[in-house]
Amino acid sequence: MRVVVTRRIPSRGIELLRDAGFDVAVWPGELPPTREELIAFARGADGLLTLLTERIDGSLLDALPTVKVVSNMAVGYDNIDVDACTARGVVVCITPDVLTETTADFTWALIFAVARRVCEAVDNVRRGAWRTWEPLGFLGKDVHSATLGIIGFGRIGQAVARRATGFAQRVLYTDRNPVAPERERELNATFVPPDELLQRSDIVTLHVPLTPETRHLIGARELALFKPSAILINTARGPVVDTEALVDALRVGRLWGVGLDVTDPEPLPADHPLLQFPNVVVTPHIASASEVTRQRMAELAAQNLISALHGECPPRSLNWDAVRGRTV
Ligand code: NAP
Ligand code: GLV
Repeated sequence: MRVVVTRRIPSRGIELLRDAGFDVAVWPGELPPTREELIAFARGADGLLTLLTERIDGSLLDALPTVKVVSNMAVGYDNIDVDACTARGVVVCITPDVLTETTADFTWALIFAVARRVCEAVDNVRRGAWRTWEPLGFLGKDVHSATLGIIGFGRIGQAVARRATGFAQRVLYTDRNPVAPERERELNATFVPPDELLQRSDIVTLHVPLTPETRHLIGARELALFKPSAILINTARGPVVDTEALVDALRVGRLWGVGLDVTDPEPLPADHPLLQFPNVVVTPHIASASEVTRQRMAELAAQNLISALHGECPPRSLNWDAVRGRTV
C-alpha cells in the first residue's frame, strides 16, 4: 500500500510506516503542497498523513478516490470536512492527549511573556537600550493571585487550570457543560457563563476547537466586556477571535495585552496591524512544538494510519464507527 505524508515529520512516524511495509512518499518541500501539487503527489495513495495546513474536503477526496484513511498529525481537525470523508468511506484520525501538557505549558509561556512584558524587555536589551535599573521600567501585571478565565474546559483547558493552582489563582471556566463537581474541586475551578467570565477575569485563555459555533466567539461585543487591565491568550485557533475587532479594541486601549500562538490569517504577514502593538506577542503556531511531543504526535498519526489501513480500529479515529460500523 502507498501512503503519502504531506511534509517532513519526526522520524519515528516515518519509520513506523516503513516498518509496517508501506511504500511511503514524503512531500519534500518546506512549504505545504498546493492543492494541485497534493493531488498529483498523492495520486494512487491508500492513505494520507496530513497536517493542519492541508484542506481535506469532498473535492480533494473525489480527485483521490483510492484514499481510504486521512490521519491528521494534530488534535484540531477544522481543516478536514469529516462528513465529506464519512460519506466517501474515508476514516479520519487525529492525535489528541499526546500534546495536551506541552500545549498547556506553552499557554503559560504566553501568559508570562505578555503579563511580564518579556519580549519588549528582551528587545530593549538587544537594542543596547538597557541603561540602568529603572523603578518605572517594564511594569507588568502579576500572574500570581490573578483571576484566570478558561474558555473551553477540555483536555488542554483543564491542563492549563491544573498549573494555575501553583500560582494561587482563582480559576473561572466556561464550556458547553460544566465538568463533574469532583473535577471542579480537584482543579479549584468555578463554572460561570461566558459574559461573567469575560467581565471578571484578569487573564482570558481560549481552548475551544474551531467550529461554526466558535468562529469569532471573541468579537467586538465580547471584547467590550473585558476589563481594560485584562490579557487575552489564544492558543486554540485564529478565527476563534475576530481579528478586526481585536485590532480595533487594541487601538482604543480596550485590552492590556494579548498573546497569540494562532492567528487569522495564518501565517500573519509581517506588516499586519496586530504586529504594530508592543503589548501583543505573536508566535508562529508552536504550542505543541517540543521535541518529545512532536515525535509522539508523528508516532500516533502513523499508528492511526497503519491500524486503519489494516482494517483495525485505529487508536484515535473520529468516524471509525460511522465508516466501518464497529465499536471504537
Ligand atoms: P477538547 O478536549 O475537545 O476540548 C475542547 C473543549 O471545548 C471541550 O470541552 C468542548 O466541549 C469545548 N467546546 C466546544 N465547543 C464549544 C463552544 N461552542 N463553547 C464552549 N466550549 C466549547 O480539545 P483539546 O485537546 O483541549 O484541544 C482544543 C483545541 O486546541 C484544538 O481543537 C486545537 O484547535 C487547539 N490546539 C492548538 C494547538 C497549538 O499548537 N496552538 C495545539 C493543540 C491544540 P465538548 O466536549 O462539549 O465538545
Ligand atoms: C495544533 O494546532 C493541533 O491542533 O494539534
